[in-house]
Amino acid sequence: MMRFGIVTIFPEFFVPFFTGGILGKAIASGLVAETCLSPRLFATDKHRSVDDEPYGGGGGMVMRPGPIISAVENLEALHGVSRRILLTPSGTPFTQNDAVRLSSERHIVLVCGRYEGIDERVSAQMCEELSIGDFVLMGGETAAMAVIECIARLVPGVLGNPISSVQESFNEGLLEHPHFTRPVSFRGQHVPEVLRSGDHQQIAAWRRAQSLARTRARRPDLLSKHRDPSIEEVVATRTKKPL
Ligand code: ADE
Repeated sequence: MMRFGIVTIFPEFFVPFFTGGILGKAIASGLVAETCLSPRLFATDKHRSVDDEPYGGGGGMVMRPGPIISAVENLEALHGVSRRILLTPSGTPFTQNDAVRLSSERHIVLVCGRYEGIDERVSAQMCEELSIGDFVLMGGETAAMAVIECIARLVPGVLGNPISSVQESFNEGLLEHPHFTRPVSFRGQHVPEVLRSGDHQQIAAWRRAQSLARTRARRPDLLSKHRDPSIEEVVATRTKKPL
């Protein structure tokens, strides 16, 4: 059982997320559990405020540390010690390796920031800070959902067919090859003949070449990190048209 705690001033965002689809099924069958908790419940002033003006001035509001940490501590009092993660664009980039690493945790608490920022002293109470990419969202909620999905699909039993070790490692650090289903012809585009040949060795070779060519065209940064960067293979798959 993998348990997620989410600290968010918008717990209602997570209702459809945890209700439908594969995640909803995983929760219904007891493989995954979730608790959303609003820091507003732990605000001590009469207006139940979770934010305040920044010291030093400047625009916007900053989330106060007290209500957030109280919510985290409340989740841990209920469900035990957790891996505490803050979602922030200033975090370290979240990758598939992080998802694999975190999938063996029993309890993960994700803190979603909102407004212009979050009091720096929250950081000291976290285990790690993660960003889902070099862009700024309105808050950490959709980032938390992305992280939860990545981790939950690695929990044994959540997906119908178990994920192979190759898939688990993000296809060896390469982008996936293209996929096709029926019809054979769609708007002037045809399914590559090799995929209908029945020659499994040829199909595997074609897919491998497509993976490499696509990675080279779209994500050359991944090729340098690739575990077995066979230079000949990369050169051999050079194409004129970016895929
Ligand atoms: N909050 C706002 N933007 C974010 C991002 N890119 N990743 C994680 N948390 C965020």
